[in-house]
Amino acid sequence: MIEYEKLSEVNKFFKQDFITAFEKFLDKGWYILGEEVAQFEKEFAAYIGTKHCIGVANGLDALILPLLAWNFEPGSEVIVPSNTYIATILAIIKAGLTPILVEPDLQTYNINPSKIEEKISKKTKAICVVHLYGKACNMQIIMQIASQYNLKIIEDCAQSHGAEYQEKKNRWVWGCGGL
Ligand SMILES: Cc1ncc(COP(=O)(O)O)c(C=O)c1O
Repeated sequence: MIEYEKLSEVNKFFKQDFITAFEKFLDKGWYILGEEVAQFEKEFAAYIGTKHCIGVANGLDALILPLLAWNFEPGSEVIVPSNTYIATILAIIKAGLTPILVEPDLQTYNINPSKIEEKISKKTKAICVVHLYGKACNMQIIMQIASQYNLKIIEDCAQSHGAEYQEKKNRWVWGCGGL
């Protein structure tokens, strides 16, 4: 069998750090929120260069929560790349919204900005970009389209923590007009 993703190998480098951290909080008995999460939120916000960071359980939840917070009418449309991990689409559906797929740019495999406008309808409320393989999307064009049609932007950065675009690190949610 060819392993699709050998996580034991990926995690080898961090293994001892993980074990030490796990033992510390296991002994403390405080498993939800707590000091470690608060510290992580502070450090990650500083690293990304944002005012706020909110720790959640996983990437899927991180996508669902802002989509729900915007309180769009059920069935509103969210533009999203057709080439992404399944969680991006699941989050939109779970929030009661409709994903509208846009094909990728064949040079980067990220969303093709020139194919976004033709998918915008009266029901479109947001664009969900996904920075795949650590590569930032062309945010300048995408932000321009969002501002022209008054759309929110949410960035799925699950594959791009620390990646930069125009000297700014990617962040999960851009409130184009405010969250
Ligand atoms: C692009 C993308 N979005 C979302 C997710 C979901 O993250 P999680 O598995 O933590 O829910 C992943 C996970 O690999 C991903 O690659």
